[in-house]
Amino acid sequence: MKVGGVHYRAIWRDAQSGAVRIIDQRWLPHEFKVVTLSALEDFEVAIRDMWVRGAPLIGATAAYGMAEAMTRDPSDVNFEHSSTVLNATRPTAVNLAWALARCRATLLPLPPENRADAAWALAQEVFEEDIEINRRIGENGLALIREIAAKKPAGEPVNLLTHCNAGWLATVDWGTATSPMYHAYNEGVPIHVWVDETRPRNQGALTAWELGEHGIPHTYVVDNAGGHLMQRGLVDLVITGTDRTTARGDVCNKIGTYLKALAAYDNGVPFYVALPSPTIDWSLQDGVAEIPIEDRPEAEITRIQGLNQGQIGEVLVTPQGTSGGNPAFDVTPNRLVTGLITERGICDASTQGLAGLFPDKAH
Ligand code: MRU
Repeated sequence: MKVGGVHYRAIWRDAQSGAVRIIDQRWLPHEFKVVTLSALEDFEVAIRDMWVRGAPLIGATAAYGMAEAMTRDPSDVNFEHSSTVLNATRPTAVNLAWALARCRATLLPLPPENRADAAWALAQEVFEEDIEINRRIGENGLALIREIAAKKPAGEPVNLLTHCNAGWLATVDWGTATSPMYHAYNEGVPIHVWVDETRPRNQGALTAWELGEHGIPHTYVVDNAGGHLMQRGLVDLVITGTDRTTARGDVCNKIGTYLKALAAYDNGVPFYVALPSPTIDWSLQDGVAEIPIEDRPEAEITRIQGLNQGQIGEVLVTPQGTSGGNPAFDVTPNRLVTGLITERGICDASTQGLAGLFPDKAH
């Protein structure tokens, strides 16, 4: 997608130098910085400290990290070491384990001298696939938005609500939850997006920045506003992303998503989840019981980052010494999910729904 009229991806390999570059998301929306990741440690820090974030982008970053690692030392020992280091960076988004498992299956059977080239080719494949998956999610989600638009007076926007940033910054391109929005806007379907701020990391500010760069009308709201907006009939459709969805359709996503789903259910607002297939954990059923939820540092709760007189800085928002709890994700049970928007179409959040679209992957 575009930044100041220039097309960017959230991660890419420079065609000339072969270096892997990312948009360093720690400074957005205030500063746009591109950095180069070279050593395995750079990739480790970039994922763990959220320079990159969002399930699909974490997976793609891990694939490039393994390619760098295999270029330096393609031995079995270094494969195991690098894979273990990257796998330990963040626990909830399953795309990380998915990308590393794919590296394992492709690279380990090869003689070490062939691994580096194969690893770069694989990372590029993950990169390209992610773009295509998200483009298709956009096309499939567009049908939902069109359906709602057709029932509204001409010119009246479809009001969407989204939580966190499941935008192009969380993927290689297009985003998951935002892809239907970009497709709708590009086709002239009038939309307006309620953007949840998404404390504590305020990923909503990333979403607002993305939508603003694309010209999509949006309004930034506190996380607690969603229920009220739905009661007033101001939300036609909720679309969120997901970091891990189980085989029966329980959806793990950024903390606060579950409360949005409850409010949507109570108000009869359709609640859809944009779900790329690499985010499905086919080995799990009960999301509440089985998905590991990341606990993040309490300083993210007690402090907040922002721009003040041209400087990005942090301020304390609690009394000195107050302790903060920071579970970073929650699970929305499948009964609260109206449907899953995947690259193969839209299905029920159920075992039958997912297995129907992905008979080759369900087990
Ligand atoms: O902690 P983050 O910022 O990596 O979490 C990302 C999310 O939870 C996103 O909302 C998203 O839905 C998943 S990535 C498309």
